[in-house]
Amino acid sequence: MSVCIELTGKTAVVTGGYSGIGLSISRVLLKAGARVIIIGMNEERFISVQDEIKKISPEFDFYKLDIKNSMKISDTIQKIIDKESKIDILVNNAGIVKDGLLIRMSDEDWLDVINVNLNGTFYITKSALRHMIKAKSGRIINIASVIGEMGNSGQANYAASKAGIIAFTKSVAKEYAARGILANAIAPGFIKTVMTDRLPEDVKNAIKKGIPLGTIAEPEEIANAALFLCSELSAYITGTVLNVNGGMYM
Ligand SMILES: NC(=O)c1ccc[n+]([C@@H]2O[C@H](COP(=O)([O-])OP(=O)(O)OC[C@H]3O[C@@H](n4cnc5c(N)ncnc54)[C@H](O)[C@@H]3O)[C@@H](O)[C@H]2O)c1
Repeated sequence: MSVCIELTGKTAVVTGGYSGIGLSISRVLLKAGARVIIIGMNEERFISVQDEIKKISPEFDFYKLDIKNSMKISDTIQKIIDKESKIDILVNNAGIVKDGLLIRMSDEDWLDVINVNLNGTFYITKSALRHMIKAKSGRIINIASVIGEMGNSGQANYAASKAGIIAFTKSVAKEYAARGILANAIAPGFIKTVMTDRLPEDVKNAIKKGIPLGTIAEPEEIANAALFLCSELSAYITGTVLNVNGGMYM
C-alpha cells in the first residue's frame, strides 16, 4: 500500500522559506499541493530561488518582513488573510545564531537572537492563531533545535531561544487543542545549511563523532518531518518535539 501526503487546498506560511531548511520545507509543501506563502527579510535570496520553485508549482507568494517587527507582522498576516482567506499551516522556521562565550556575549547579541527566534515566533503565531481559531483548525510547526534540549557551549542565547520555543509550543498545544489547532516542534540536529557551513572542518568532524547515525543531515530530513506534521497522518499528535538528529540526543 502506498501512502501519499496530499495538501491540495491548504495554505501554508513558512518563515525563511527561501533558504536552507525553510526552502526544503517550501519545496515539499508545494510538491504535496499546498499553496506556500514565504515570509522573510531577505528578498534577494527569495528572488534567487523563485525560478527553481516555480518549476515545482506556481502556487507561492512572498512577503518581505522582519519577524522582529511585531507591528508589521500583524499587518502582513492580515494582508495574507485578505488575499488567501486562510492560513491552514504555519511553519515558524526563521532563525539566527550569534555565538559567543557567555562571559563575552554582548546584550545586543543576546537580545537579537531572542528577538528573532523566540519573540518572532510568538508574534507570528499570535497573529495567525486568531484566524486559525475562527477556522477551528490549524497546524503550527516550530523549528526548535537539539541545542534547545541539550545546551551548547558558546550558544547560551540560541539554546535559551530554542528551549523557549519548545515550552511555547507545548503551551500553544494545550491552549488550543480544543479549538482544533495542533502545535508541534521539530528539533533538528546538525543540518547542512549556511548556518552550519561556516563551521571549521575540525568542528564538523567532532560533531559527526557525536552523531550515532554518523552524518550531518540534509535539510530534506527536516522537511519530511514537517510534511508529516502538516498531514492527516499526524492528526493525533500535538505538543510533541520531534527529534530529527541522527540520535545525537535521545
Ligand atoms: N542548520 C542547522 O544545523 C540547524 C539545526 C537546528 C535548528 N536549525 C534551525 O532551522 C531554522 C532554519 O535555519 P537554516 O539552517 O535553514 O539557516 P538559514 O540561515 O538558511 O535560515 C534562516 C532563515 O531565517 C531568515 N531570517 C533570519 N532573521 C530573520 C528576520 N529577522 N526576519 C525574517 N526572516 C529572518 C533568514 O533570511 C533565513 O531565510 C532556524 O530556526 C535554525 O535555528 C538549524
